[in-house]
Amino acid sequence: MATRVIRVGIIGQGRSGYDIHARHLRTDRRYKIVAVVDPLADRRAQAEAELGAAAYADRRDLLKRDDLDLVVNATPSHLHVPYTLEALAAGHNVLCEKPLARRAAEVDELVAAAKRAGKLLAIFQQSRFAPYFQQVRRVIASGVLGRIVMIKIAFNGFGRRWDWQTLQEYNGGSLLNTGPHPLDQALQLFGPGMPKITSLMDRANTFGDAEDHVKLLMSGEGRPTIDLEISSCCAYPLYTYQVYGTCGGLTGGTTEMKWKYFNPAKAPKRQLIREPLPGRQYCSEQLPWVEKSWTVPKSQANSFAYMSREFYSHLYRTLTEGAPLVITPEHVRQQIAVIEECHRQNPLPRLA
Ligand SMILES: NC(=O)c1ccc[n+]([C@@H]2O[C@H](COP(=O)([O-])OP(=O)(O)OC[C@H]3O[C@@H](n4cnc5c(N)ncnc54)[C@H](O)[C@@H]3O)[C@@H](O)[C@H]2O)c1
Repeated sequence: MATRVIRVGIIGQGRSGYDIHARHLRTDRRYKIVAVVDPLADRRAQAEAELGAAAYADRRDLLKRDDLDLVVNATPSHLHVPYTLEALAAGHNVLCEKPLARRAAEVDELVAAAKRAGKLLAIFQQSRFAPYFQQVRRVIASGVLGRIVMIKIAFNGFGRRWDWQTLQEYNGGSLLNTGPHPLDQALQLFGPGMPKITSLMDRANTFGDAEDHVKLLMSGEGRPTIDLEISSCCAYPLYTYQVYGTCGGLTGGTTEMKWKYFNPAKAPKRQLIREPLPGRQYCSEQLPWVEKSWTVPKSQANSFAYMSREFYSHLYRTLTEGAPLVITPEHVRQQIAVIEECHRQNPLPRLA
């Protein structure tokens, strides 16, 4: 049977629209890029020459087309809500880049618009498929670490930034820009519902007016505490994930991790002693630790390429077979509600 080819229009030909979406889609025979939009003439010319796609300066010319199966909104973040609403109203299925919106109410508006139009609203949260995150999930789900008490996630580094992603008026800042990647992961580990949020945000090395240092604690009854950092002033990043469990823990980065655990049934039998310990001893013992490790498989080592392929494979099944979305607007609404609360707790003055 011939493969059904999904005809795609991409709005925005920047780091995301060109370097992530077009880069993947031009290699994926299930998709064909037929049109792009960018106000920059050289980016339009490049798309025409390299992709053989029609190129428009104005998105409305793309949205008028009736031969598209999918519109990718890869514009700067402040244009995600208005352009996605326009595309849905024009009768297109939309894949919107992260962050979907700045406020949860906007997500509700988008979901209602998709329902009204009878069209798909998907959000590009490809870090759900990150190999290291899948591995963390596998270890946690195996149960060897016991009850998960705390999960620390750090998307840290040291860097200065001076582009539009540093400005609040473009929905920039570390929380809206980088945040959707670790937050989508964190909330999968936390579970549904709104966590209790404590957050502190700061501007360290940015040339704009939005935060580039974020500390965020999420907690809830019967849930692991999530401790998340996204910082641009961490000169010595130590880990991406650390998991604290009652029977062990995990630590690691995006390419390597290790975890150790013990089986309580194989540990020395203990009972509470209220009297001073004989010989003024401390509580010291040898636990029967088992230690394991993981290295990213070679086929997944180019994580950007791998995550895009996984994302577009799932999306293809949704578009052609009606399979449910893996990343739903409801998941993303929870993420945006957390981001909104962090901004409420940390209002930062805007540049004029
Ligand atoms: N998922 C990811 O890993 C990932 C990575 C990078 C960027 N992004 C997201 O993608 C979006 C774009 O970011 P970027 O880094 O590609 O920015 P960018 O500045 O590199 O590219 C934006 C592009 O959009 C074009 N543009 C601007 N206004 C437009 C308009 N009105 N109509 C059509 N095109 C317009 C610009 O000319 C530019 O080519 C952001 O929301 C960002 O958060 C996601």
